[in-house]
Amino acid sequence: MRVAVIHGGTSSEHDVSVASGEGIADGLRRAGHEVVPVLIDRSGEWHTPTGSGRLVAVDTLLGCDVAVPALHGLRGEDGTVQGFLEMLDVPYVGSPVAASAVCLDKQLTKLVVAAAGVPVAAGLPVPAERALEATRSVTELDRLVEDLVGVGLTGPLFVKPVHGGSSVGVTRVDAWPGQTWPEVPGPEAAVGRARTGAGAAAAAATASATTAAPTTTAARAALAEALATALDVATDAVLVEAEVAGIEVDVPVLELPDGQVRCGPSLLVDSDPDEPFFTAAAKYASTATRFTVPAPIAPELTAQLERLAVTAYRALGCRGLARVDFLVSVGGPVLNEVNTFPGFTPASQFPRMWAGAGMSYPELVDVLVRTAVR
Ligand code: DAL
Ligand code: MG
Repeated sequence: MRVAVIHGGTSSEHDVSVASGEGIADGLRRAGHEVVPVLIDRSGEWHTPTGSGRLVAVDTLLGCDVAVPALHGLRGEDGTVQGFLEMLDVPYVGSPVAASAVCLDKQLTKLVVAAAGVPVAAGLPVPAERALEATRSVTELDRLVEDLVGVGLTGPLFVKPVHGGSSVGVTRVDAWPGQTWPEVPGPEAAVGRARTGAGAAAAAATASATTAAPTTTAARAALAEALATALDVATDAVLVEAEVAGIEVDVPVLELPDGQVRCGPSLLVDSDPDEPFFTAAAKYASTATRFTVPAPIAPELTAQLERLAVTAYRALGCRGLARVDFLVSVGGPVLNEVNTFPGFTPASQFPRMWAGAGMSYPELVDVLVRTAVR
């Protein structure tokens, strides 16, 4: 097939998308397809082998059998490019408009999957204007803290852009003014008996990182700083969530050309212990982050995560592929997020997981395009 690989984009994940797009182009060529690279630069301009500009891009896309929107984040993974391709009547890999839009919004994702019975972490979405006010006024910050306590956020927090990706703009906050938190039991009680070496140290470190409370002033400053960091990423809202002290297990979902929806081997993330959490640096720049495929967890937990992943995939209306990320603590698993176009460099989690099932990178991208045109 003649396949347009759209990559780059204007989001904070431009570089990751370029790497994903190059990997996919190479894989498709090795699978015998003709590749037409289409690059969206940081300013939003489209570039094709025959020239630049949106009209040229439209012409190029109309000449292809299928498109791969290998884009991460806003204006690419959020339904915008998918809608553009719908209007052109060009088949494309991955989820349709609504599923893409909902999955790129971490709060909407939680609402949809929770309604389908998939557990999620406690959290509060904060509109950007309110978050900005809270960075400027202690009174506003304290009001926000009251609301956070009101929804049960009484421990360490994660503050993230509601439309982010690749951990850009995400901060872990230990505590907040006037609050202390109960000791959080480590994940070992829940999953440790099924775990083998890998990951245990990192999980134990996470579990023990819940001791002394910072002073009120320092905690206030940390929360304000975290809100400001999230607001640096173009976003409508900031999501403040309870930390889930445990392990991250990702589950890959793939739709085959015959319509079957399959889960691949799960992956345990052992993030760089020198990073405060699974940061962008731990994801892309660290040699200390380790991924274990399949995740060394109990078969019952694997089965539960697969069930939840497919429930979420169907409830959200996903198509083609998704990587469903879970956090597992003593309280059980919660769904953290769904990536409708997960990182796709040959070293990224999704291709690694399918490699664990014996599917090579070229085979995987071939499945994606064949499912898209079925
Ligand atoms: N958003 C990045 C690309 C990922 O989840 O893989
Ligand atoms: Mg994730």
